[in-house]
Amino acid sequence: MILVFLGPPGAGKGTQAQRLEKLYGYRQISTGDLLRRHRRDQTPLGQQAQSYMDRGDLVPDNLIIEMMEGELEGVSDVILDGFPRTTAQAQALDAMLRAKSKSVPGALLFSIDDDELMERLTGRWIHPGSNRVYHERFAKPKNAGFDDVTGEPLIQRPDDMPETVANRIAVYHKETAPLVDYYDEPSSRRLISVDASAPADDVAKEIDQKLRHFANASGAA
Ligand code: AP5
Repeated sequence: MILVFLGPPGAGKGTQAQRLEKLYGYRQISTGDLLRRHRRDQTPLGQQAQSYMDRGDLVPDNLIIEMMEGELEGVSDVILDGFPRTTAQAQALDAMLRAKSKSVPGALLFSIDDDELMERLTGRWIHPGSNRVYHERFAKPKNAGFDDVTGEPLIQRPDDMPETVANRIAVYHKETAPLVDYYDEPSSRRLISVDASAPADDVAKEIDQKLRHFANASGAA
């Protein structure tokens, strides 16, 4: 099954995608992580994406769609974390999958009010090698500042500074929120909504329950 994770920055998409990957063998494909890898390796795509990401703006659709065409080759059980993010990307994804006789059966919407996002993002720490996510209040590492598995130092993302977060939230409402209607369109009704403001374990339970129900109802496995 190919699942789209939709929601504002800091809603918990990455946290829940990593959990589903570990528990059920889905593969998480995060466009943000892929772009950060391109930046680190200073590829042409990474260099082109850099200024957009630093401002908290979206990277142009043509670059993202080209990158995802390669990533989606031969995949089956996948969580698309952060893609699509515009109507043009959603249409391109549907076309790419149609060409392989596949489709997006469901889009999981992480519903949460904007005022909770700032604290989540400014308190986030990540392990750059694995992209494991922590929070200084809500998901503390065993030793503050260090990864639980490797013991390596954690870092904060440059785009988690308050001014950039504010722009990312505004960009979400303008460019990405219209996808809620795209996936909730009456002929397909692919939208599944979860309350992302609850504690992470409760969000996880709601996701598991709704995905099970959705898979049974749609015949998707
Ligand atoms: P990207 O890396 O995708 O960032 P994002 O969508 O803004 O999402 P985040 O990773 O910030 O948040 P999340 O929802 O995954 O939250 P998390 O689980 O970490 O994109 C970065 C940039 O790349 C974009 O700005 C853009 O420039 C570019 N880009 C990427 N995709 C693109 C595309 N398709 N098109 C164009 N440009 C693109 O959780 C956040 C924090 O909260 C963590 O600390 C976590 O521990 C904590 N937390 C999680 N759940 C809970 C909970 N339930 N309660 C309390 N705390 C929680």
